[in-house]
Amino acid sequence: MAEFISKIRTIQWVDNCSRMVDQTLFPYEFKYVDIKSGQQMFDAIRTMIVRGAPAIGIAGAHGVVLYAMELAKENLLRDEFITKLCEKADYLATSRPTAVNLMWAIAKQKEIIKNSNSDIDGIIDELKQNGIKLENEDIEINKKIGDYGATVVPKGATILTHCNAGALATVGYGTALGVVRSAFANDNSIQVFADETRPRQQGARITTLELTMDGIPTTLITDGMCSYFMKKGMIDMVVVGADRIAANGDTANKIGTYTVAIAAKYHNIPFYIAAPLSTIDTTIKSGDEIVIEERSHDEVTHINGKLICAPDVNVINPGFDVTPNELITGIITEVGILKPDYNQSIKKAFELC
Ligand code: MRU
Repeated sequence: MAEFISKIRTIQWVDNCSRMVDQTLFPYEFKYVDIKSGQQMFDAIRTMIVRGAPAIGIAGAHGVVLYAMELAKENLLRDEFITKLCEKADYLATSRPTAVNLMWAIAKQKEIIKNSNSDIDGIIDELKQNGIKLENEDIEINKKIGDYGATVVPKGATILTHCNAGALATVGYGTALGVVRSAFANDNSIQVFADETRPRQQGARITTLELTMDGIPTTLITDGMCSYFMKKGMIDMVVVGADRIAANGDTANKIGTYTVAIAAKYHNIPFYIAAPLSTIDTTIKSGDEIVIEERSHDEVTHINGKLICAPDVNVINPGFDVTPNELITGIITEVGILKPDYNQSIKKAFELC
């Protein structure tokens, strides 16, 4: 099994479609689903068959290819094809609002469309090749993030994580869990505490699954328990992923992350974000500008299809929160660990690429 999870590709362009692991089925089933149309991709992103910011980004890139293949059957003139394809790409970018990797990857595909000198078939081919390139780069980037992150993991550390920023949130290896993987490769005495992550329980359903499959000692806790274990001195550091990072370092991640960061600050525990540069949105100055997805109330009122509360109770369900930059010890990226002042270090990181 360890071999399996380390080698897995959560999403991959194969046989002219996008093959992805259906993440709604965990932990009961491990099943691939083939996405064959642009609208099917929109729905897969919205319903979280594919989830996790970097994986959603690749889904966006594949979705543009699928739309292009559909439009190619309409016998359009090249210019009409390009206009319609860009409209479809913009529509696909609205499938989820917070994870910026989606918009980033779609923008990369739109650059290809606009800069290409090829005919329609040639454009489609270039889009496919670019999607595959982004897939391969994702794994390489995550390994670099993992290796930089491992340098700040103390020997024998217990690492707390929230949600799932693992192989299954990316093409492979993971961001926050990439740090765990690289650290574990050097020191098999480290362990992980995984927050359950209500409402969709990505921590319980996905993080515990992929870490235990890799043989990394993991303890599941519910979200409210983190400060209890921090006070007991049982957590040495926190590493989480990110869905969008503003130019000043404010970071949107799964709802509950902000609470963990406050608790870590109070207990003097280092709190790291692990994310690729594609998660940094330099067009926004601060986290105040990040759109937070409001998700279905059923996610809160039901567990496994069963109502768990008064049927008519009021519910609010924001999918993400924003951790202010002053609570973040460092942002682990593929070009190194960025430190405060983030306005400066983020700017410098982009100059390096
Ligand atoms: O709603 P999801 O499951 O797509 O959200 C994912 C997260 O918020 C994760 O915490 C993650 O850190 C970002 S993806 C590596």
